[in-house]
Amino acid sequence: MENWWKSAVVYQVYIRSFADGNGDGIGDLPGLREKLPYLSSLGIDAIWITPWYTSPMVDAGYDVADFRDIDPSYGTLHDAEALIRDAHALGIKVIIDIVPNHTSSEHRWFHAALRDEANAKQRYIFRDGQGTDGSSPPNDWTSAFGGPAWTRLPNGEWYLHMFAPEQPDLNWENPEVRAEFEDILAFWFARGIDGFRIDVAHGLVKHPELPDAGPRPEDWRTQPHPARDQDGVHDIYRTWRKVAETFTPERIFVAEAVVPTNERLARYLRPDELHTAFQFDFTRAPWRANSLRDVIDDAVSQAATVGAPATWVLSSHDIPRPVTRYARSQPEFDVQPEWDRARWSAEEPDLELGKRRARAAALLQLALPGTAYIYQGDELGLDEVESLPPEVRNDPTWAQSGYTDVGRDGCRVPLPWSGTSPPFGFSPEASHADPWLPQPEHWESRTVLDQQNDNASFVWLYRSAIHLRTALFPAETELEWLGFAGQVLAFQRGDSQCWVNLGDEPVDLPAGWDVVLESSRTHGDSLPSDTAVWMTRSPF
Ligand code: GLC
Ligand code: CA
Repeated sequence: MENWWKSAVVYQVYIRSFADGNGDGIGDLPGLREKLPYLSSLGIDAIWITPWYTSPMVDAGYDVADFRDIDPSYGTLHDAEALIRDAHALGIKVIIDIVPNHTSSEHRWFHAALRDEANAKQRYIFRDGQGTDGSSPPNDWTSAFGGPAWTRLPNGEWYLHMFAPEQPDLNWENPEVRAEFEDILAFWFARGIDGFRIDVAHGLVKHPELPDAGPRPEDWRTQPHPARDQDGVHDIYRTWRKVAETFTPERIFVAEAVVPTNERLARYLRPDELHTAFQFDFTRAPWRANSLRDVIDDAVSQAATVGAPATWVLSSHDIPRPVTRYARSQPEFDVQPEWDRARWSAEEPDLELGKRRARAAALLQLALPGTAYIYQGDELGLDEVESLPPEVRNDPTWAQSGYTDVGRDGCRVPLPWSGTSPPFGFSPEASHADPWLPQPEHWESRTVLDQQNDNASFVWLYRSAIHLRTALFPAETELEWLGFAGQVLAFQRGDSQCWVNLGDEPVDLPAGWDVVLESSRTHGDSLPSDTAVWMTRSPF
């Protein structure tokens, strides 16, 4: 189907935590292959698989040592090809991650740079330090995980890493770097993948003078920075688009571009650049009607300026689970994931409330025009695992922040598939393997098997919504807000309406409409608080 990506439901597979096929407690490609029928039953259009490349796993695979092979803990190139084939046979497209901002420090290129082979350092960003003995970093940039973005080698030189020290940033001014990635794209397109999610798409080009950035503000993701969103990055994507266009059927890109505004984001989506880009505002917005309405309006209108679809993201492997985000008091302002994690110990979560709101959020997300991304486990209503003991924490954020930010492990805990105790069918029964992060006991009520035949479950809601979505809200129909009051979001697309009540009081639903899907039980013509419904004109 041409243009499938303009209205697709894409399911994010965090491969380490999806399903373990060989019984070592780590998710892998055979495990994922085995569970494809489950994904197909949800009705999704595509999967996005987080990095599967050879990696020392300092940042869970976002530190790539070889872009043309599969990490042995996940399987082989042959497994990847088999997975692509099986997914396609079920009508599921396959999007994989590409990580062009940096390599692993175990990549052959970085090894060559450390050996000071001819021209090897020019593939990365090496500089002399400041001060008479060069012992201060070349500038004041900080790593996204905390601490300085520069590490000094024994020979006195510094190299840049916007993430972990084991993730040196590449120098995209070097034509060799550009050629290498064009070749990597073609390598995977030729193996049948349908698209790439571009990691840190905003970061490849740095301001040529590497100027100081000044102190890092709390909302740093939405502030300009000399290492982000530089105009020169667009040339790269124009070239990538040309590479994609040499393949049929259509191959696509989705950018993880963290830029100050949706207006800046739209620049990545010009017709000769990328197809789509995540709009993360949903993940930062509190559960408040006015915030969400602004997010929706801005996302739709800005994407439309360049003819691109809006792209709705409720969560990911980098962001606390929605159930938990919505389980605490909702601030007046937009939040950042670190901010949300910082209040874990301060405020007891009300998970029942969080689940109720997350269900309503799912119906809202899936009724909106554009593409929707579902992070694995959100369809099970999983909560953030806040109780992980420090010694199992794996995210480099934990150590790099000086043990002040617990990091992202809480949303990366292996999925519960079946059974009444950990590992909940994550690994084959005979293996007795412990999952790489421990699962909480209370996930007993959240397994796929337990939920599949229960019409009050999360899975049931997601599956119903995904299956009804295109019939009720056809891809090309635009969103029209209905008159709303206070804490109600209500809109029509085509002949159907979506209503969400974010307030404390029930609201009346209009006469002449039938509820087709509800996130929690509605009572007659009244929509209870923290509930969403999809409606069609009666009789349906
Ligand atoms: C992206 C990924 C994140 C990773 C980072 C560095 O933000 O989503 O998981 O740590 O890039 O590659
Ligand atoms: Ca495994």
